[in-house]
Amino acid sequence: MADDLQIITGNKAEQYQSLLPQIKGLLEGEPDLIANLANIAAALKEQFGWLWVGFYIVKKDELVLGPFQGPVACTRIRKGRGVCGTSRAEARTLIVPDVEKFPGHIACSSLSRSEIVVPVIRNKEVVAILDADSEELNHFDITDQHFLEQIVDLIPFK
Ligand code: SME
Repeated sequence: MADDLQIITGNKAEQYQSLLPQIKGLLEGEPDLIANLANIAAALKEQFGWLWVGFYIVKKDELVLGPFQGPVACTRIRKGRGVCGTSRAEARTLIVPDVEKFPGHIACSSLSRSEIVVPVIRNKEVVAILDADSEELNHFDITDQHFLEQIVDLIPFK
C-alpha cells in the first residue's frame, strides 16, 4: 500500500516541488493507466484543494471522463468544444483566468471560476487531458503550467 502523501505549506512552486517526487513514487512499477490517473488526481486534490481535478481520455472524436476528484462532471466532450476540447484540438495548455470570458466554456460546476487544461501528448498525439478547476478567479498561472506539464509527462501511456 502507498504511504500517506506528505502535504506541505509554502508557495505554489514549493508545493509542486514536494509533490513531484511523491507522484513519481506513486507511479513507479504500476503500469495500469486508470490506477495512475486516479492517484495523480487524488494527490493534486489533497495538496491543492482545488474544486475539481481530473482527466479526460481521448476516445475517437470525444474526450471521455476519466479518474477525477470533485463534483460530478460532464462525461463526454467533443473535439474543439469547451476549454478541454480546445486544448485537445490545439495540443497545448490553456490557462483560463475567468471561465465566463472563454467562448464555449462548458460549465460542469457553477462554482468553477478559473481553469487550466494540460494535454497529455504521446507520439505527437493528444491521448488525454488533465483539467483543474478553481472557485477563485485567476487562480492558475505559468507555475501551474510548468509543473503540471512535468506531471503529465510522467504518466506511462501504452
Ligand atoms: N470546463 C471544461 C469542462 C470540464 S469540467 O470543468 C470538469 C471545459 O470547458 O471544457
